[in-house]
Amino acid sequence: AAAEKGGYDYFMLKEIAEQPKAIADTLLGRVGLDGQLVLDEMRLSDEELREVDKVVIVSCGTSFHAGLIAKYAIEHWTRIPCEVELASEFRYRDPILSRSTLVIAISQSGETADTLMAVRHAREQRSRVLAICNTNGSTIPRESDAVVYTHAGPEIAVASTKAFLAQIVACYVVGLYLAQVRGTKFGDEIATVMDQINEMPAAVEKVLETIEPVRALARTLKDKKSVLFLGRHVGYPVALEGALKLKELAYMHAEGFAAGELKHGPIALIEEGVPVVVTVPSPSARHRLHDKIVSSIQEVRARGAHTIVIAEEGDEAVVPYANTLIRIPQVPTLLQPLVSTVPLQVFACEMATVKGYDVDQPRNLAKSVTVE
Ligand code: G6P
Repeated sequence: AAAEKGGYDYFMLKEIAEQPKAIADTLLGRVGLDGQLVLDEMRLSDEELREVDKVVIVSCGTSFHAGLIAKYAIEHWTRIPCEVELASEFRYRDPILSRSTLVIAISQSGETADTLMAVRHAREQRSRVLAICNTNGSTIPRESDAVVYTHAGPEIAVASTKAFLAQIVACYVVGLYLAQVRGTKFGDEIATVMDQINEMPAAVEKVLETIEPVRALARTLKDKKSVLFLGRHVGYPVALEGALKLKELAYMHAEGFAAGELKHGPIALIEEGVPVVVTVPSPSARHRLHDKIVSSIQEVRARGAHTIVIAEEGDEAVVPYANTLIRIPQVPTLLQPLVSTVPLQVFACEMATVKGYDVDQPRNLAKSVTVE
C-alpha cells in the first residue's frame, strides 16, 4: 500500500501533489493545428451548441463548487445565462428546461446517484446533457449526450482534490469552446486564455513548493472550535470548498461566506481568536473587489479574528491586517481558484492529521454516493 501511495503517507497528499499533472493532462490535445479548440470526446455538434440559450450545471459536493466557479467564466465568455444547482435539489423543483438548455453534469466518479437522477430528468425534458467526468465509461457519461473527460487519473482519497482542479479546467475549456462556436470570443482571445491556463500547472507547482507554513499554521489552530472562510467572486466558491474540506477531514465546524454578506449576519460570529481565512482577489482585477475585501479583513480583525490571508505576491495592502499571510502567484482573476484552493486543501489535510483522523477515509463519508 505504501508503494501505491508513491511514498506519501496518504493518498490525499499524493493527489494534492499530482494537481499540476491533472491540469496539464486535462488540457492535452484541446488545441488543434489551426489554433481552434477541439473537444475530442464531445458528441454534440457545433450546430446544437449554437442553439443553446441557457446552461444549467448540476453536481454535488466538491463538484458543485467547481460548477459555481465555472458559472463566472461561462457567463463572462459566452454571455449565455448559467445556473448552478445542487443535483439533489434540481429535479424536485420542476426546473424550466427545453431543447435549447445545455445541462452540464459534473462528477468525478460518474456514479453519484443525485447527479445521475438530475441527468435523467434533464433528458426526459429533452435537454442536452454534457458530462464532465473523471471516470471513463461510468454511468453519467454513458447516459449523457456528450462528455468531456477530466484526466486527473484515479482519485482514491474520499475528499476530492485533483479532480476538482481538473473539473474547473474542463469547464473552462467547455466555456471557451462555446464562445468559439458562438463567436462571442475571437480566436486570438481564446488562444490568450488557453495560454494562461497552460501556465497553471507551473503556478500550482509553485504553491506546492511553499506550502510548509500552511501545515505549521494548521497545527497551531488545532484546538479551535470553528473556522470561517471568506471570499468574493470566484473566491466565494473557494471559501465554500475550504470549509467543506475542513468539515470532511477534520470534523471541525467550518463555514464559507461571500465576504460582502459579512454585514448581513456572519460578522456576528466573530469573536476573539476565531480563525478567518480570506482569499483576496488580485489588486489588478478589473472588478475592483480587492479593496472591498481588504476592508472586510480589517473589520473582522478589529473584532478579534485571527486573520489568515491568501493574497497574491506583491499585494502589500493586506499586510497590516494579516495575522498569517499565505502568498500565491499572480494569475488572471478567473484562474485564481486553481492556486488559492491548494493551501486550503493542505490546511484541512494537516488539521486531520494532527487530530489523528484518517485522512483518506473520513468517518461517515463515501467516495461515491450511489444512493439518493
Ligand atoms: C461524495 C464525495 C465528495 C464528492 C461528491 C460528489 O460526497 O465524498 O468528495 O465531491 O461525492 O462526487 P462526484 O463523484 O459526483 O464528483
